Amino acid sequence: MSASPEGVEAAGPGAGDLVLSFQRSFFTMGRMDSLPLPELEERLKNSDDSTLIQHILQQTVLHPLCNKYPPSVKYRRLFLAELIKKLSGENIRLGENVAIISEGTTGLVTWEAAQFFAEWAMENSEVFNCRSILELGSGIGLVGITICKTCTPKQYIFSDCHPNVLQQLRTNILSNGLLLDSDTWNAKDCEVEVKNKYVSEENQGPEITVIGLDWSEVTQEQVELQPDIIIATDVIYDPEVVLCLVSVLEKFLISNERKEQGSVVYLASTVRNPETYHQFKMELDKVGIGHQVIPGPTRKIFPYNRCTEIELLKIVFAHHL
Ligand SMILES: C[S@@+](CC[C@H](N)C(=O)[O-])C[C@H]1O[C@@H](n2cnc3c(N)ncnc32)[C@H](O)[C@@H]1O
Repeated sequence: MSASPEGVEAAGPGAGDLVLSFQRSFFTMGRMDSLPLPELEERLKNSDDSTLIQHILQQTVLHPLCNKYPPSVKYRRLFLAELIKKLSGENIRLGENVAIISEGTTGLVTWEAAQFFAEWAMENSEVFNCRSILELGSGIGLVGITICKTCTPKQYIFSDCHPNVLQQLRTNILSNGLLLDSDTWNAKDCEVEVKNKYVSEENQGPEITVIGLDWSEVTQEQVELQPDIIIATDVIYDPEVVLCLVSVLEKFLISNERKEQGSVVYLASTVRNPETYHQFKMELDKVGIGHQVIPGPTRKIFPYNRCTEIELLKIVFAHHL
Protein backbone atom coordinates (compact mmCIF):
# COMPACT_ATOMS: atom_id res chain seq x y z
CA MET A 1 0.00 0.00 0.00
CA SER A 2 1.28 3.48 -0.84
CA ALA A 3 2.52 5.73 1.96
CA SER A 4 0.94 8.81 0.39
CA PRO A 5 -1.39 8.30 -2.56
CA GLU A 6 -0.12 10.21 -5.59
CA GLY A 7 -1.75 13.59 -6.28
CA VAL A 8 -3.91 13.48 -3.17
CA GLU A 9 -2.42 16.59 -1.58
CA ALA A 10 -4.17 18.59 -4.33
CA ALA A 11 -7.35 17.81 -2.35
CA GLY A 12 -5.94 19.89 0.53
CA PRO A 13 -3.26 19.67 3.24
CA GLY A 14 -3.54 16.52 5.30
CA ALA A 15 -5.74 14.82 2.69
CA GLY A 16 -3.11 12.10 2.21
CA ASP A 17 -3.27 11.12 5.91
CA LEU A 18 -7.05 11.02 5.77
CA VAL A 19 -7.02 8.75 2.70
CA LEU A 20 -4.47 6.48 4.38
CA SER A 21 -6.56 6.15 7.47
CA PHE A 22 -9.58 5.12 5.33
CA GLN A 23 -7.33 2.64 3.56
CA ARG A 24 -6.07 1.11 6.83
CA SER A 25 -9.57 0.76 8.23
CA PHE A 26 -10.87 -0.70 4.99
CA PHE A 27 -8.26 -3.44 4.62
CA THR A 28 -8.45 -4.36 8.30
CA MET A 29 -12.26 -4.26 8.13
CA GLY A 30 -12.40 -1.66 10.90
CA ARG A 31 -15.79 -0.79 12.40
CA MET A 32 -17.81 1.84 10.51
CA ASP A 33 -17.79 4.11 13.54
CA SER A 34 -13.97 4.03 13.57
CA LEU A 35 -13.76 5.51 10.04
CA PRO A 36 -12.71 9.19 10.00
CA LEU A 37 -16.11 10.17 8.57
CA PRO A 38 -16.58 13.41 10.55
CA GLU A 39 -13.26 14.71 9.20
CA LEU A 40 -14.27 13.76 5.67
CA GLU A 41 -17.62 15.50 6.10
CA GLU A 42 -15.94 18.65 7.34
CA ARG A 43 -13.59 18.70 4.33
CA LEU A 44 -16.44 18.09 1.87
CA LYS A 45 -18.39 20.98 3.37
CA ASN A 46 -15.51 23.34 2.63
CA SER A 47 -14.69 22.06 -0.83
CA ASP A 48 -16.43 22.12 -4.20
CA ASP A 49 -14.86 19.03 -5.68
CA SER A 50 -15.16 15.35 -5.01
CA THR A 51 -11.56 14.33 -5.83
CA LEU A 52 -11.01 13.40 -2.19
CA ILE A 53 -13.71 10.74 -2.42
CA GLN A 54 -12.14 9.51 -5.67
CA HIS A 55 -8.79 9.13 -3.90
CA ILE A 56 -10.43 7.22 -1.07
CA LEU A 57 -12.13 4.90 -3.58
CA GLN A 58 -8.89 4.37 -5.50
CA GLN A 59 -7.04 3.45 -2.32
CA THR A 60 -9.76 1.10 -1.05
CA VAL A 61 -12.41 -0.64 -3.21
CA LEU A 62 -10.56 0.16 -6.46
CA HIS A 63 -7.07 -0.67 -5.14
CA PRO A 64 -5.45 -3.73 -6.83
CA LEU A 65 -5.08 -5.28 -3.37
CA CYS A 66 -8.83 -5.32 -3.07
CA ASN A 67 -8.97 -7.80 -5.97
CA LYS A 68 -6.47 -10.06 -4.26
CA TYR A 69 -7.58 -9.78 -0.61
CA PRO A 70 -11.06 -8.21 -0.70
CA PRO A 71 -12.86 -7.43 2.54
CA SER A 72 -16.25 -9.20 2.65
CA VAL A 73 -18.98 -8.08 0.23
CA LYS A 74 -21.09 -6.97 3.18
CA TYR A 75 -18.25 -4.86 4.52
CA ARG A 76 -17.55 -3.26 1.12
CA ARG A 77 -21.23 -2.46 0.73
CA LEU A 78 -21.40 -0.81 4.15
CA PHE A 79 -18.21 1.13 3.45
CA LEU A 80 -19.55 2.46 0.13
CA ALA A 81 -22.90 3.34 1.68
CA GLU A 82 -21.10 5.48 4.28
CA LEU A 83 -19.13 7.30 1.59
CA ILE A 84 -22.24 7.94 -0.50
CA LYS A 85 -24.01 9.28 2.56
CA LYS A 86 -21.19 11.71 3.23
CA LEU A 87 -21.10 12.83 -0.40
CA SER A 88 -24.80 13.53 -0.61
CA GLY A 89 -25.20 14.53 3.05
CA GLU A 90 -28.33 12.38 3.31
CA ASN A 91 -29.71 9.25 1.75
CA ILE A 92 -32.78 9.77 -0.37
CA ARG A 93 -34.83 6.80 -1.52
CA LEU A 94 -37.25 7.19 -4.39
CA GLY A 95 -39.59 4.68 -5.94
CA GLU A 96 -39.94 5.60 -9.61
CA ASN A 97 -40.94 4.23 -12.96
CA VAL A 98 -38.47 3.31 -15.69
CA ALA A 99 -40.56 4.73 -18.56
CA ILE A 100 -40.40 8.49 -19.20
CA ILE A 101 -44.14 8.56 -19.80
CA SER A 102 -46.23 5.96 -18.03
CA GLU A 103 -49.82 5.77 -16.85
CA GLY A 104 -50.44 8.91 -18.94
CA THR A 105 -48.03 11.11 -16.97
CA THR A 106 -44.45 12.36 -17.05
CA GLY A 107 -44.49 12.58 -13.27
CA LEU A 108 -43.39 9.06 -12.33
CA VAL A 109 -39.69 9.62 -13.05
CA THR A 110 -37.25 12.20 -11.71
CA TRP A 111 -36.24 14.74 -14.36
CA GLU A 112 -32.83 16.31 -14.71
CA ALA A 113 -33.97 19.80 -13.74
CA ALA A 114 -35.17 18.33 -10.41
CA GLN A 115 -31.72 16.87 -9.71
CA PHE A 116 -30.13 20.17 -10.73
CA PHE A 117 -32.43 22.13 -8.41
CA ALA A 118 -32.00 19.68 -5.52
CA GLU A 119 -28.22 20.24 -5.76
CA TRP A 120 -28.76 24.00 -5.84
CA ALA A 121 -31.04 23.83 -2.80
CA MET A 122 -28.45 21.94 -0.78
CA GLU A 123 -25.88 24.61 -1.59
CA ASN A 124 -28.28 27.45 -0.83
CA SER A 125 -30.14 26.03 2.15
CA GLU A 126 -30.40 29.44 3.84
CA VAL A 127 -32.90 30.48 1.13
CA PHE A 128 -35.39 27.98 2.58
CA ASN A 129 -34.73 28.57 6.26
CA CYS A 130 -38.05 29.02 8.15
CA ARG A 131 -39.94 29.63 4.90
CA SER A 132 -43.21 28.15 3.70
CA ILE A 133 -42.78 26.48 0.33
CA LEU A 134 -45.20 25.29 -2.32
CA GLU A 135 -43.93 23.03 -5.07
CA LEU A 136 -45.91 22.80 -8.32
CA GLY A 137 -45.83 19.56 -10.34
CA SER A 138 -43.72 17.80 -7.70
CA GLY A 139 -43.66 14.47 -9.53
CA ILE A 140 -42.26 11.81 -7.23
CA GLY A 141 -40.69 14.29 -4.88
CA LEU A 142 -36.89 14.48 -5.20
CA VAL A 143 -36.74 18.26 -4.79
CA GLY A 144 -39.06 18.49 -1.80
CA ILE A 145 -37.67 15.46 -0.01
CA THR A 146 -34.15 16.83 -0.45
CA ILE A 147 -35.17 20.23 0.90
CA CYS A 148 -37.07 18.73 3.84
CA LYS A 149 -34.11 16.53 4.74
CA THR A 150 -31.23 18.92 4.20
CA CYS A 151 -32.67 22.43 4.74
CA THR A 152 -34.89 23.86 7.48
CA PRO A 153 -38.14 25.09 5.91
CA LYS A 154 -41.12 25.86 8.15
CA GLN A 155 -43.62 24.20 5.82
CA TYR A 156 -43.39 22.26 2.55
CA ILE A 157 -46.43 21.68 0.37
CA PHE A 158 -45.94 19.14 -2.41
CA SER A 159 -48.48 19.25 -5.23
CA ASP A 160 -49.35 17.54 -8.47
CA CYS A 161 -52.49 16.84 -10.48
CA HIS A 162 -52.09 13.15 -11.23
CA PRO A 163 -53.53 10.61 -8.75
CA ASN A 164 -50.86 7.96 -9.37
CA VAL A 165 -48.10 10.53 -9.03
CA LEU A 166 -49.63 11.73 -5.76
CA GLN A 167 -49.75 8.17 -4.48
CA GLN A 168 -46.11 7.46 -5.39
CA LEU A 169 -45.15 10.81 -3.90
CA ARG A 170 -46.75 9.89 -0.57
CA THR A 171 -44.96 6.55 -0.57
CA ASN A 172 -41.63 8.24 -1.26
CA ILE A 173 -42.15 10.81 1.49
CA LEU A 174 -42.93 8.03 3.96
CA SER A 175 -40.00 5.88 2.92
CA ASN A 176 -37.70 8.80 3.61
CA GLY A 177 -38.59 8.85 7.28
CA LEU A 178 -41.41 11.37 7.25
CA LEU A 179 -44.62 10.38 9.02
CA LEU A 180 -48.26 10.70 8.04
CA ASP A 181 -50.46 12.70 10.34
CA SER A 182 -54.20 12.05 10.63
CA ASP A 183 -55.29 15.21 8.80
CA THR A 184 -56.51 13.85 5.45
CA TRP A 185 -59.25 14.64 3.01
CA ASN A 186 -60.37 13.49 -0.42
CA ALA A 187 -60.25 15.94 -3.31
CA LYS A 188 -63.14 15.74 -5.70
CA ASP A 189 -61.11 14.78 -8.75
CA CYS A 190 -58.78 12.24 -7.20
CA GLU A 191 -59.73 8.93 -5.72
CA VAL A 192 -56.66 8.82 -3.54
CA GLU A 193 -56.29 10.86 -0.39
CA VAL A 194 -54.53 13.89 -1.67
CA LYS A 195 -53.83 15.92 1.37
CA ASN A 196 -51.77 14.41 4.11
CA LYS A 197 -49.85 16.13 6.80
CA TYR A 198 -46.55 14.60 7.69
CA VAL A 199 -44.24 15.25 10.56
CA SER A 200 -40.72 13.98 10.86
CA GLU A 201 -40.01 10.95 13.05
CA GLU A 202 -38.65 13.13 15.83
CA ASN A 203 -41.70 15.35 15.56
CA GLN A 204 -39.46 18.20 14.49
CA GLY A 205 -38.79 19.63 11.09
CA PRO A 206 -41.19 21.12 8.57
CA GLU A 207 -44.89 20.52 8.35
CA ILE A 208 -45.22 18.55 5.15
CA THR A 209 -48.37 18.42 3.09
CA VAL A 210 -49.32 16.73 -0.17
CA ILE A 211 -52.14 18.33 -2.14
CA GLY A 212 -53.84 17.75 -5.47
CA LEU A 213 -53.35 21.01 -7.38
CA ASP A 214 -54.14 21.29 -11.07
CA TRP A 215 -52.73 24.44 -12.71
CA SER A 216 -55.87 24.82 -14.78
CA GLU A 217 -58.20 24.67 -11.77
CA VAL A 218 -56.48 26.37 -8.87
CA THR A 219 -58.98 27.12 -6.12
CA GLN A 220 -59.19 30.27 -4.03
CA GLU A 221 -58.42 28.14 -0.97
CA GLN A 222 -55.16 27.04 -2.62
CA VAL A 223 -54.23 30.58 -3.65
CA GLU A 224 -54.65 31.59 -0.03
CA LEU A 225 -51.92 29.20 1.03
CA GLN A 226 -49.67 32.21 0.44
CA PRO A 227 -46.32 30.42 0.32
CA ASP A 228 -43.14 32.47 0.74
CA ILE A 229 -41.46 30.40 -1.98
CA ILE A 230 -42.84 28.56 -5.00
CA ILE A 231 -40.71 25.91 -6.68
CA ALA A 232 -41.24 24.13 -9.98
CA THR A 233 -38.86 21.94 -11.98
CA ASP A 234 -39.27 20.76 -15.53
CA VAL A 235 -42.76 22.07 -16.02
CA ILE A 236 -42.17 24.12 -19.21
CA TYR A 237 -42.43 21.46 -21.87
CA ASP A 238 -45.84 21.90 -23.40
CA PRO A 239 -46.87 25.14 -25.18
CA GLU A 240 -50.45 24.44 -24.12
CA VAL A 241 -49.71 24.66 -20.42
CA VAL A 242 -47.56 27.78 -20.59
CA LEU A 243 -50.49 30.20 -20.29
CA CYS A 244 -52.10 28.42 -17.40
CA LEU A 245 -48.80 28.09 -15.57
CA VAL A 246 -48.15 31.82 -15.91
CA SER A 247 -51.65 32.52 -14.68
CA VAL A 248 -51.10 30.27 -11.62
CA LEU A 249 -47.86 32.03 -10.77
CA GLU A 250 -49.55 35.41 -11.18
CA LYS A 251 -52.37 34.39 -8.81
CA PHE A 252 -49.94 33.25 -6.11
CA LEU A 253 -47.72 36.32 -6.50
CA ILE A 254 -50.70 38.70 -6.30
CA SER A 255 -52.07 36.90 -3.27
CA ASN A 256 -48.80 37.33 -1.43
CA GLU A 257 -48.24 40.98 -2.38
CA ARG A 258 -49.59 42.02 1.02
CA LYS A 259 -46.67 40.36 2.74
CA GLU A 260 -43.59 42.51 3.26
CA GLN A 261 -41.36 40.43 1.01
CA GLY A 262 -43.91 38.90 -1.38
CA SER A 263 -43.41 35.44 -2.86
CA VAL A 264 -40.41 34.30 -4.84
CA VAL A 265 -40.60 31.60 -7.50
CA TYR A 266 -37.65 29.37 -8.36
CA LEU A 267 -38.09 27.56 -11.62
CA ALA A 268 -35.56 25.15 -13.13
CA SER A 269 -36.05 24.01 -16.70
CA THR A 270 -34.33 21.82 -19.18
CA VAL A 271 -34.54 23.95 -22.30
CA ARG A 272 -35.75 21.32 -24.77
CA ASN A 273 -37.78 23.61 -26.96
CA PRO A 274 -36.36 27.18 -26.95
CA GLU A 275 -39.55 28.54 -28.55
CA THR A 276 -41.79 27.24 -25.79
CA TYR A 277 -39.38 28.48 -23.16
CA HIS A 278 -39.20 31.90 -24.80
CA GLN A 279 -42.99 32.02 -24.98
CA PHE A 280 -43.14 31.37 -21.24
CA LYS A 281 -40.80 34.29 -20.53
CA MET A 282 -42.77 36.57 -22.87
CA GLU A 283 -46.01 35.70 -21.09
CA LEU A 284 -44.38 36.53 -17.74
CA ASP A 285 -43.30 39.92 -19.11
CA LYS A 286 -46.82 40.64 -20.37
CA VAL A 287 -48.31 40.36 -16.88
CA GLY A 288 -45.52 42.33 -15.20
CA ILE A 289 -43.71 39.37 -13.70
CA GLY A 290 -39.94 39.76 -13.80
CA HIS A 291 -37.40 37.00 -14.08
CA GLN A 292 -33.67 36.72 -13.79
CA VAL A 293 -31.38 33.82 -14.60
CA ILE A 294 -29.36 32.81 -11.54
CA PRO A 295 -26.31 30.54 -11.34
CA GLY A 296 -26.91 26.84 -10.88
CA PRO A 297 -25.22 24.43 -8.46
CA THR A 298 -21.46 24.01 -8.36
CA ARG A 299 -21.16 20.61 -6.64
CA LYS A 300 -22.06 17.42 -8.47
CA ILE A 301 -24.15 15.12 -6.32
CA PHE A 302 -26.77 13.46 -8.51
CA PRO A 303 -25.92 11.32 -11.54
CA TYR A 304 -27.47 13.21 -14.47
CA ASN A 305 -26.12 14.29 -17.84
CA ARG A 306 -24.22 17.54 -17.28
CA CYS A 307 -24.31 18.45 -21.00
CA THR A 308 -28.05 19.12 -20.81
CA GLU A 309 -28.91 22.83 -20.86
CA ILE A 310 -30.75 23.63 -17.65
CA GLU A 311 -31.67 27.17 -16.64
CA LEU A 312 -32.65 28.42 -13.21
CA LEU A 313 -34.96 31.42 -12.99
CA LYS A 314 -35.80 33.55 -10.00
CA ILE A 315 -39.22 35.02 -10.63
CA VAL A 316 -40.87 37.91 -8.77
CA PHE A 317 -43.11 40.82 -9.65
CA ALA A 318 -41.06 43.14 -11.86
CA HIS A 319 -41.20 45.98 -9.31
CA HIS A 320 -39.46 43.71 -6.75
CA LEU A 321 -36.48 43.05 -9.02
C1 LIG B 1 -41.86 16.52 -16.43
S1 LIG B 1 -42.69 16.15 -14.95
C2 LIG B 1 -41.60 16.91 -13.76
C3 LIG B 1 -41.74 16.29 -12.41
C4 LIG B 1 -40.77 16.83 -11.36
N1 LIG B 1 -40.99 18.24 -11.09
C5 LIG B 1 -39.33 16.62 -11.83
O1 LIG B 1 -38.70 17.59 -12.25
O2 LIG B 1 -38.88 15.46 -11.75
C6 LIG B 1 -44.06 17.30 -14.95
C7 LIG B 1 -44.96 17.18 -13.72
O3 LIG B 1 -45.97 18.17 -13.81
C8 LIG B 1 -47.22 17.58 -13.49
N2 LIG B 1 -48.26 18.31 -14.23
C9 LIG B 1 -48.47 18.34 -15.57
N3 LIG B 1 -49.55 19.10 -15.87
C10 LIG B 1 -50.03 19.55 -14.69
C11 LIG B 1 -51.13 20.39 -14.32
N4 LIG B 1 -51.96 20.89 -15.25
N5 LIG B 1 -51.33 20.65 -13.02
C12 LIG B 1 -50.48 20.16 -12.08
N6 LIG B 1 -49.44 19.35 -12.35
C13 LIG B 1 -49.21 19.06 -13.64
C14 LIG B 1 -47.10 16.13 -13.95
O4 LIG B 1 -48.01 15.28 -13.28
C15 LIG B 1 -45.65 15.83 -13.60
O5 LIG B 1 -45.52 15.35 -12.30
